[in-house]
Amino acid sequence: MNRQEFLKMALLAFPAMAASASRPAPSLHAPDGAVTDEHYWKLVRSEFPLSDEMTYLNTGSMGVSPYSVIEAIHRTMLRINTKAQYGGGDREAMVVLAGFVGADADEMVFTHNVTEGNNLVAQGLPLKAGDEVIMTQHEHVGGALPWLNRARHDGIVIKVIQLGVTGAATLAIIESAITAKTRALALPHIPCTIGQVLPAKDIAALARSRGIYSCFDGAHGPGMLNLDLHDIGCDFYASCCHKWMMGPKGTGFLYVRKERLDELKPIMVGASSETGWDMLSNPPVMKGYAPSAHRFYYGTQSAESYAGIEATVRFHETIGKQVIEDRGRYLANTLRKKLRALGDAVELVTPEEPFSRGAITAFRLRTMTMHKFQELAGKERFNIRTIPENNVNCIRISTHIYNQLEEIERFADLVKRCV
Ligand SMILES: Cc1ncc(COP(=O)(O)O)c(C=O)c1O
Repeated sequence: MNRQEFLKMALLAFPAMAASASRPAPSLHAPDGAVTDEHYWKLVRSEFPLSDEMTYLNTGSMGVSPYSVIEAIHRTMLRINTKAQYGGGDREAMVVLAGFVGADADEMVFTHNVTEGNNLVAQGLPLKAGDEVIMTQHEHVGGALPWLNRARHDGIVIKVIQLGVTGAATLAIIESAITAKTRALALPHIPCTIGQVLPAKDIAALARSRGIYSCFDGAHGPGMLNLDLHDIGCDFYASCCHKWMMGPKGTGFLYVRKERLDELKPIMVGASSETGWDMLSNPPVMKGYAPSAHRFYYGTQSAESYAGIEATVRFHETIGKQVIEDRGRYLANTLRKKLRALGDAVELVTPEEPFSRGAITAFRLRTMTMHKFQELAGKERFNIRTIPENNVNCIRISTHIYNQLEEIERFADLVKRCV
């Protein structure tokens, strides 16, 4: 029985033993030249329970967690349920997570997912009927609905733009869509559809220069890119820990720039959102909001999830944030080259410009529908995503650190057989 099998069995069958065992993690510090060192990435892969019976190319939907995260969650659950102490861990995890994304802990709110963060922004901003919000034709349902809902409630106007094929072109399109009524840009940093990386820093600067809010749906930013929110300079950034961060499922965060804290109305409050409350005074009052972004989350929290978030950040930091970004891009570039070599039968949809690409590669086949291709890929045990949303109609391939070069080569070979 190898180490993975042993740990898997220990976690499932002997939880107490697994919880107390300190796992002998191999050194994952990336050596020089790690990005193309397949031996190293094989070692990284061995840190995940991911089954070898399939080829997982769908991190854009959900990231797989390494053993260290699973064990941290398990250990914490065991502690909580042994000692009957359910809270804690949130502040420590918040400090670690904030450092990971280039923010201050006081600017961060824990959420359950990206959608929740988008809702907090869309519902909380001071907008009125007729105010315009600029969005794209590439929104995920969790990006679109919070704003469409605000439009239903309050009559704000959603203006939808196309993306350009370069960062500069996209910026120009956004700029030309801004009118005197525009109050916010609500855009994906990296849309779920084609994985194009938008020039978030330039967009945030543009918004600031026009006195409007910059709000990003950052589902695919952390863990794929070496993210630095202070460097980007946006007002709001909603994201999750369960995709490219490979953390616990149902965890996320919202970044609220310090200067914007008092402009975002807390629509849901509870224990810890306030500086005091009194139901016996006349009238009963909530004295004030917590002085940090903690005002936006409340009530009983998931200490085991926070332990998992901390563990996943440690995992990224051990390998190196930039190495992880570079590896994802390297695998995506490799796939792209192989697809391009197939000629006109393959239409690459993710733009050519290197800045505009990360670890997602989207393409269409002129020889077959995306659904037919997905069916064939499924038969060969490739787990991929097709994108019917907004009629984008493409095949989306996500490449992350558990993927091996050999998997990309096998996938490219499948495409070759389909053209
Ligand atoms: C761009 C984008 N926004 C929002 C979401 C919704 O994420 P969540 O399920 O974490 O709310 C996704 C999920 O795939 C996404 O890709």
